[in-house]
Amino acid sequence: MDRYTDSISSRYDKLSGQNCCLSCGSAYSLATILPGNVCIDLGCGKGHDVLRMALLTGEKGFAYGVDVSDGMMETARQQAEIMNIQNIGFVRSNLECIDLQDGIANVIISNCTINHSLNQDKVWKEVARLLKKGGQFVVSDIYALQPVAEHFRSDPEKVAECWAGAVTREVYLDNVTNAGLSNTEVIEESEPYEKGEIRVASFTIRGQKPLS
Ligand SMILES: C[S@@+](CC[C@H](N)C(=O)[O-])C[C@H]1O[C@@H](n2cnc3c(N)ncnc32)[C@H](O)[C@@H]1O
Repeated sequence: MDRYTDSISSRYDKLSGQNCCLSCGSAYSLATILPGNVCIDLGCGKGHDVLRMALLTGEKGFAYGVDVSDGMMETARQQAEIMNIQNIGFVRSNLECIDLQDGIANVIISNCTINHSLNQDKVWKEVARLLKKGGQFVVSDIYALQPVAEHFRSDPEKVAECWAGAVTREVYLDNVTNAGLSNTEVIEESEPYEKGEIRVASFTIRGQKPLS
């Protein structure tokens, strides 16, 4: 693990036993999930959304939760057991290099996670790699109003706190387009607010991998 991943997993291991909300939008509610679909939740945390995706896809479908925090995924696994959900799997992986095969997903969602990566272009390339042609992504996240100063970005604890890794809206949407994803639309967006030592806004974007 590098020092950023270390800091992220250590922060979220501690939060995995708490009842706090860690989301910044409605990605799950705004995705179209059909029976038989294969779905992925990037940064699944305690499993709130990935469990609901597994229920919606039914026994012919499958839902994967991806996260770097063992504590978060253990909480999610226990909940799956309590609910007797079998069509669910958890993958401990960094979002920049995800241990799942190409083209497996009909739907990828993510909530308040991609901002933790200092290489968000790589994360979006992974989204494009994992989606089937015509597959859909719905991502809620934060963006920074101004480029974040290097002394914040180089501090793993501030990145783990969910703000110092943020990129601007323009860079965010460029990363999506440069990964080869299309029909991207902003479907929710907040007013700017303070987070950590910067100003950010939250949004939810939806788009797809082109059919050809
Ligand atoms: C703010 S929480 C959001 C959790 C969940 N999506 C929700 O809405 O409740 C961010 C989650 O992403 C995970 N995470 C952060 N950076 C990651 C990375 N680079 N690779 C994989 N998981 C990451 C954290 O461990 C944590 O569980």
